[in-house]
Amino acid sequence: MGDALKYATRERARFQSELFDFLRIPSVSAKSEHDVDTRRAATWLAENLSRSGLDVEVLETPKHPVVLGEWRGAGADAPTVLIYGHYDVQPADPLGEWSSPPFDPEVRDGKVFARGSADDKGQIFMHVKALEAALADGRILPVNIVVLAEGEEEIGSPSLVPFVEKYKQRLAADVVVISDSAMFQEGLPSLLFSLRGLAYFELKARAAKTDLHSGAYGGAIPNPGTALARIIASFHEADGRIAIKGFYDDVLEWDDQTRAQISNLPFDEDDFRRNVEATALAGESGWSVLERLWIRPTCEVNGFLTGYTGEGAKTVLPARAMAKVSFRLVPDQRPERVRKLLQAHLAEVTPPGIELELLEHHGGLPWKSDVGGRLLEAAATALEEAFGTRPVLAGEGGSIPIVVEFERILGSPALLVGFALPGANMHAPDEWFPLEHFEKGIGALVRLYGELGKK
Ligand code: BES
Ligand code: ZN
Repeated sequence: MGDALKYATRERARFQSELFDFLRIPSVSAKSEHDVDTRRAATWLAENLSRSGLDVEVLETPKHPVVLGEWRGAGADAPTVLIYGHYDVQPADPLGEWSSPPFDPEVRDGKVFARGSADDKGQIFMHVKALEAALADGRILPVNIVVLAEGEEEIGSPSLVPFVEKYKQRLAADVVVISDSAMFQEGLPSLLFSLRGLAYFELKARAAKTDLHSGAYGGAIPNPGTALARIIASFHEADGRIAIKGFYDDVLEWDDQTRAQISNLPFDEDDFRRNVEATALAGESGWSVLERLWIRPTCEVNGFLTGYTGEGAKTVLPARAMAKVSFRLVPDQRPERVRKLLQAHLAEVTPPGIELELLEHHGGLPWKSDVGGRLLEAAATALEEAFGTRPVLAGEGGSIPIVVEFERILGSPALLVGFALPGANMHAPDEWFPLEHFEKGIGALVRLYGELGKK
């Protein structure tokens, strides 16, 4: 292992420049104009991964291909580690808000700024380079390795569940390692004990058949903008709880130990608020900020559009309004049930004269780790050696829906070890990743593969 770590240190400039090449490919999975780029990112990654010494295939799906790499040199009796990540990225919009172009990586203050630097190209690529270091010069690992990098994570992984079912045998593993999240804070690595799930909806309200003069019709014909605003407002109580009947029925009460663990973490709620320049905190009363983010469900408006939003004033009574609304879910909530409860709620609150349509977008189940014992210990040792600090257990408010499916289909526990930092601007302008973490994280992963192979 010492040699692998020395190799990684020696090759760090090249590793970094390869990372920048990878980040230059605009693999935006949501936009068909980038389909060619998304495919190019897959083939680029496959080629790079095969130079790490893995047998690699680019496998087709109905949309974006999956990169599958295998190294089985440890033998049939050794454990197998499945490494999962994604090479697709979110759209870079709004482009004007970036300090440097999103697909032209720039280093400022020790951070590389580029779309995908944190989520998730930078992090999946750390595994690729850790594997190169571990396997170079004829070295071997004590574990077999399977790498699965998909290109549809940011659009809800529509092809991945069928893919995992189809390749169940080849993907069989003792543990799934995923680096697609952040450390708890600078200098304090973490392992995740939970992820929230997601249920995402679109609401479309309409009244008259076209937009109308707001003087000639306003006051006598329903306004879908007002109606939809009232409908949205009805989703919360004044104390921040969600007002949809039955919504909390499946919400798990977390054990005292987890709650104590959360409250013992070094976290300043005012700093958290100040960092995003908000003047007040919001949410469900009776819970700390970390609890609100990690172990409590939420309902958020993600978009809202109606009427005239151009320059100046236009006196119009809109015919339509639309909103995107999503719920972050916690164990044991399920998107299908949330949909049914929401439908029932909408039937009660939609005013007369408003035709309301409910569409459902992709979602995912929440995840609660049952990883413990040896696996956790292996990861804690690897992180402590690389970062100098023992990791904490942390929750995560974001979602990685495939985690639950890996556990269900493959029966393999997941180990979530992220290397980004809070404030990394995932999905936002100026996404960044600390180059120091790129380097130390590669060291941590080399050690992790070694630790996972110990009897
Ligand atoms: N890498 C994120 C998940 C994440 C977000 C981890 C924030 C840690 C902090 C992942 O790529 C993501 O964005 N997931 C989506 C899921 C959705 C597209 C189904 C999310 O959380 O919105
Ligand atoms: Zn993401």
